[in-house]
Amino acid sequence: MILILDFGAQYSQLIARRVREAKVYCEIVPYSISIEKIKEKNPSGLILSGGPASVYEENAPKALPEIFELGLPILGICYGGQFIAQTFGGKVTRASSREYGRIELDMNSDSKLFTGIDKSTKCWMSHTDYIEQLPEGFEVTASSDTCPVAAMENTERNIYAVQFHPEVEHTERGREVLNNFVHGVCGEESSWDMGNYAEEQIKAIKDLVGDKKALCALSGGVDSSVAAVLVHKAIGKNLVCVFVDHGLLRKDEGDQVEHVFRDEFDMNLIRVNAQDRFLGKLEGVSDPEKKRKIIGEEFIRVFEEEKNRLKEEFGHIDYLVQGTIYPDVIESGTDTAAVIKSHHNVGGLPEDVDFELLEPLRQLFKDEVRQVGRELGISNELVERQPFPGPGLAIRVLGEITPDKLEIVREADFVFRDEIKKAGLQNQIWQYFACLPNIRSVGVMGDERTYSHTIALRAVTSTDGMTSDWARIPHEVLEKISNRIVNEVDHVNRIVYDITSKPPSTIEWE
Ligand code: XMP
Repeated sequence: MILILDFGAQYSQLIARRVREAKVYCEIVPYSISIEKIKEKNPSGLILSGGPASVYEENAPKALPEIFELGLPILGICYGGQFIAQTFGGKVTRASSREYGRIELDMNSDSKLFTGIDKSTKCWMSHTDYIEQLPEGFEVTASSDTCPVAAMENTERNIYAVQFHPEVEHTERGREVLNNFVHGVCGEESSWDMGNYAEEQIKAIKDLVGDKKALCALSGGVDSSVAAVLVHKAIGKNLVCVFVDHGLLRKDEGDQVEHVFRDEFDMNLIRVNAQDRFLGKLEGVSDPEKKRKIIGEEFIRVFEEEKNRLKEEFGHIDYLVQGTIYPDVIESGTDTAAVIKSHHNVGGLPEDVDFELLEPLRQLFKDEVRQVGRELGISNELVERQPFPGPGLAIRVLGEITPDKLEIVREADFVFRDEIKKAGLQNQIWQYFACLPNIRSVGVMGDERTYSHTIALRAVTSTDGMTSDWARIPHEVLEKISNRIVNEVDHVNRIVYDITSKPPSTIEWE
């Protein structure tokens, strides 16, 4: 077993997931864990995560120095690595500028950590501090022009540190680096398997819920669909799914959701048509976080009303099932990670919620949710569906939302999706959608001057939404999409394509 000491990194769960992918069990614990607790858990190695602080700050989080006396192999990542450098007498300094993105590193493949990895490898960097001076007893095992100590190690003490992030997709050989650590350095066997996760969850939900009843917030997206089917398998007709059509859905989506769950899965489904109610609450609101909170709160109110309405015909409902997944949780802020966006199904929840929450996918990343979905026998088409945020088109119309703007973005999005499908690209792009940046510009159509909206197209590759790159859609496909949107969607005279990765952007524009 590997223990990950969490210093508040955005990526801590991602490290955990990579370790599990290497079929090694691991747990995440706070950085301040006691030595007794570590001994109790009896790990074969420790990973010190990254984190937002600087090791030289007065109140910087510090693990107990005795962790280095346990005789366990240790790998420090980013902040974790800097913490090792400082502890052993090296020097960590603030760089003159931040280093974000993919950097070509020169690696020493004699290092156990880099066994089998090319001498020159692209790695993902995201840091402001760097190790300026090597601590005694350590040697440099990877470097670049801008980062002299991109990795270091002390083989005698079995301590390793990397400045780059082996856990993110965009580090080309990152999985192998972590594999090398857990198998090669720590000597772990491949014994952990996620295969029976669904079965275990179904049993756990059965035990927890018993004869009580649950209400599921079904959006038709992958997450809430998998959560709903999972809970349905556990408690059958004691689950009622409420699908709220908030008027912020994509074209035809409402009817599709109704068909799949009512006709194909034979589940209790109630469709609430609440378009006017949501749009009314959102009128005049342009702040993205306010929009999320309003939508989150309104969702819960609708559910509570449904619950009260259902009391007579269905009985008392104790649980609210939500398709919250790990990226939602971490980006809404944990004790140590900074808040980036408050997603409606976590941060936006009002405080006086009248339900117990049931969130069976809370620990999983998107592709793990898809695996569970397949295990449950959900169709590939649904399981592979691209993610769609709870607040829907509300966060794809920047600024104030109006029915007209929604109509524009909905139609443009439909054309975009249609052309991606026709080009056979839907499985290569993780998420793709149209967004209305709320800018107008001058154009000319026929002999007429126009002053109309711009549509921004966003398409990204990713595996979990934590990091992403912009999708290289062939120019001729983009050309077709652009032509069709300006011809078929009124009030649009300009199309732009978003070419930023995450970080520094996020996938959605709001
Ligand atoms: P960002 O924009 O944060 O998006 O890079 C990462 C993933 O999360 C989705 N997303 C949301 N999902 N409620 C949700 O349920 C939200 O408020 C929300 N905001 C973003 C986004 O579509 C992407 O898949």
